[in-house]
Amino acid sequence: MADRFGETIMKLFDVYPINDITIIKAKGSYVWDDKGEQYLDLYGGHAVISIGHSHPHWVKRIEEQLEKIAFYSNSINNPLQVELAKKLGKVSGKEDYQLFLCNSGAEANENALKLASFHNGRKKVIAFNKSFHGRTSLAVSVTDNKNYIAPVNETNNVIFLPFNDEQALEDCFKENGKKISSVIIEGIQGVGGINVADESFLKKIRSLCDEYGAVYIADSVQCGYGRSGKFFSHDFGGTNADIYTMAKGMGNGFPIGGIIVAPHIKPKHFMLGTTFGGNHLACAAALAVLEVIESEKLMGHAVMTGKYLRDELQTIPGIRNVRGRGLMIGFDVTEELKDLRKNLLWNQKTFTGEAKPNIIRLLPSLALKRRDAEDFIEALKEEINAMISSENTVS
Ligand SMILES: Cc1ncc(COP(=O)(O)O)c(C=O)c1O
Repeated sequence: MADRFGETIMKLFDVYPINDITIIKAKGSYVWDDKGEQYLDLYGGHAVISIGHSHPHWVKRIEEQLEKIAFYSNSINNPLQVELAKKLGKVSGKEDYQLFLCNSGAEANENALKLASFHNGRKKVIAFNKSFHGRTSLAVSVTDNKNYIAPVNETNNVIFLPFNDEQALEDCFKENGKKISSVIIEGIQGVGGINVADESFLKKIRSLCDEYGAVYIADSVQCGYGRSGKFFSHDFGGTNADIYTMAKGMGNGFPIGGIIVAPHIKPKHFMLGTTFGGNHLACAAALAVLEVIESEKLMGHAVMTGKYLRDELQTIPGIRNVRGRGLMIGFDVTEELKDLRKNLLWNQKTFTGEAKPNIIRLLPSLALKRRDAEDFIEALKEEINAMISSENTVS
């Protein structure tokens, strides 16, 4: 690439198919582009915005921390990590777990899978069809998408099974027995199209992991942090996982990830580690998020607003199979509405998420206001009507 004087300038490595929109400001459930256009954000930057864009408490906490210290290494005491662990234990109800902090969802899963293998000395992992666990080496090897797996990531250690198939899981444990190190599952598959794990399936994972000494890893990167209405969507199964992985909503856009580890899994010095994970600034952001989730009762709010959205969605023609929990919602659209997401963005100025084929995902801030949810339903109806009537005019 050359600039207007003919000099070569570095260009971006082109891995993202992007929408030609430049967002320069955000507040609550709205974002604004460089032309002053306002958009309703039902996508939350891919389930990242948990308490709302630029929440004043979050901004203040980060600003105040920045004035003091942003970063020092994990070789000294960091009271903010201790405070975060205490708060996370309280809000999640897993007070007896242990917190390890990192920087992203893939890293959280990478650490969880590795820790499980350290713990029981085994190599094989069970993952499920349509799973997405991230792009790093182990995380991508348990991700059910061949396009993301480079030859160097290929391994015979991962067994993919059908999601929610208890018999297949049982048969696999019977066959591989004590070779299985861990089972990794999203409580609600996100990238795979909003598929909710059955409560009985989660119970079955727990009991088989207990029977065979395997580690149950609950990937809560997208479905966790209150999005489902419970802190971890796996809690709907009524049992505890051994390791929960978290990221996305944890920092409301400030990069932070982490795992919480059940008390029976013991740490050893240097078994896990990171330079940036758990830095002061990230902890301040994560504390602000938990404080707001608690003070604004956002999990209860997610349940109510989510129910309103799902009830309304079910009444709209062209929309099928509305599913999900809390504010993690998916639905299918008929073939004539395959451009719905694009049209919602350009015509209705509304961001939503997608999954293929013809699936729309809603992943808004947990603080999405009822009025904004109503506006979305109106916009959706208007767009669908316009698309159906133009289709009828053409045919
Ligand atoms: C369920 C799940 N796990 C892991 C990841 C990876 O997270 P990150 O992109 O922060 O590495 C994602 C990202 O979409 C995800 O949805």
